[in-house]
This record gives sequence, structure tokens and C-alpha cells, in this order.
Amino acid sequence: MPHRDKTPPLFDTARDTSSVYSSARDLAQPAICLSGNLAYDVRLQMEGLHLLAALPDDSVPVIFFDPQYRGVLEHLAYGNEGETRGSPRRALRQMTGEIPEFVQAIGRVLMPSGHLFLWMDKYHLCSGFQEWLTGTRLEVVDMITWSKQKMGMGYRSRRVGEHVVALQKPPRRAKGVWTRHDIPDVWVEPVAKSRHTHRKPVGLQAALIEAVSNPGDVIIDPAAGSFSVLEACQATDRRFLGCDING
Ligand SMILES: C[S@@+](CC[C@H](N)C(=O)[O-])C[C@H]1O[C@@H](n2cnc3c(N)ncnc32)[C@H](O)[C@@H]1O
Repeated sequence: MPHRDKTPPLFDTARDTSSVYSSARDLAQPAICLSGNLAYDVRLQMEGLHLLAALPDDSVPVIFFDPQYRGVLEHLAYGNEGETRGSPRRALRQMTGEIPEFVQAIGRVLMPSGHLFLWMDKYHLCSGFQEWLTGTRLEVVDMITWSKQKMGMGYRSRRVGEHVVALQKPPRRAKGVWTRHDIPDVWVEPVAKSRHTHRKPVGLQAALIEAVSNPGDVIIDPAAGSFSVLEACQATDRRFLGCDING
């Protein structure tokens, strides 16, 4: 008797999903006119708030934001590393006080039904970040955990994951906007070798970009670190506009 696996497939591609999922976007990005010091597909060195201030209202479909959270972790010890281990991280400029300002500016620049992918530390994920959203109308629509396949540090549990929260500007909808339906909410991708200690996964960011933008659209990252989002844009035929205060 042959063995029959009764486990249902994770993604049943044969099933008719037309009533729930959409594979076509009905949104188009408006044209953007860049000011003199800005350019696409390069590593700009500048203050992220200045980059956002140079962009028109309601103009881009996707913004990634990965703030420097370490200051809060230091005080509240939600799984952070000890003094001797974190020196490259401590060298990076802390950002916690500026986060609401960034989120406000992002809320202004996103086009209707556009997405913010906000990398979130465990402390804020558990204790709340709603006050950052005040006045933006951004709404949480999803969250994906990146499984790094590598044991990190932590006073209690040890960190193997990071989390990205998906927020959408109104009107909130998936149909006609979110077109990739094969992204699991636990994404396994090994950590790439990088001098930048906070580098995020190019594969996951590329999948998210494909899900909620069109080829040729402009994708923003105002605190780009190792510029992993630039690489994700190159892999998906989108234009990148981003910067880091440290270049
Ligand atoms: C967590 S890292 C980003 C890592 C990035 N997502 C990647 O995949 O490599 C945060 C970055 O924000 C930068 N940064 C801090 N304050 C900034 C500011 N006001 N404007 C722009 N960049 C800033 C830091 O230099 C740091 O590289």
C-alpha cells in the first residue's frame, strides 16, 4: 500500500482564490519631480527627515523604515546583548526620539492605500507603538517575522527573529493593491554577511515590494543602513530613493 501524505499543501495553487485574492493592481504612482540634490538608485548620505520633507504628499506606494532602537532596549533589557557584544550597534546613532517624526512624514508622503513596512523591536511590539501613528491615519494590516536561522542574544529567550509591521494609509484594502499571495508570515532567510549589524533580508523586502508596487515605482528608505532595500529594488525592477545619515 503506498504511503499517502494527508498534510494539506501550504499553498494550494489549484484552488480558485479569485474571490479573496487579487493578482492585478489598480493603483498607479503619480509622477515625482526630484529636487537637485536627490537621485534614484544611489546611496545618499543625508538626514532621513530632510529626504522625506523633499517629497510631495501622497506620492509613493512603499516606504521601509528600520529605526535604530537600541537605546530603549538598553534600558528595558528585552533580550538585548551585553555591554561587550554590542559595540558596533552602539556606534550607530540612536533614533527612538525621532521615530514619531519619521512616521508622521511617512504618513504624509505615502499615496492612498500605500504601505509602510516598519521594522519593530520586541519591546515596542509588546508594549505598543500606537502613539507614533497619531495624526497619520496609518493602520496596522499585517506583521511578518523574519526567521534568521541563527541564534542571537537575550537575557531570557534568545533571539532568532525580527519583525516587520505592515501599515497601510487609507483607504485600507488588499484587493487591487496587494498582489503576491505566497509570502508566509514567518519568513526564513539566512542573515547575509555585512559590516552593518542591522542588515535586513533582501529576499523578504523584495517580496513585499513586488506585493504592493508596480515595476518602475519609487520605493523609499530614509534610514537605509547597508542599503538592503536598494538591492531589493534592483532585484525587482523598482527605483530606489533612500539615504542614511552615515552614508
Ligand atoms: C537599523 S539601521 C537600518 C538597517 C537597514 N534596514 C539595513 O537593512 O541595513 C538604522 C540606520 O539609521 C541610520 N540613522 C539614524 N538616524 C538617522 C537619521 N536621522 N536619518 C537617516 N539615517 C539615520 C543609522 O545610521 C543606521 O544605519
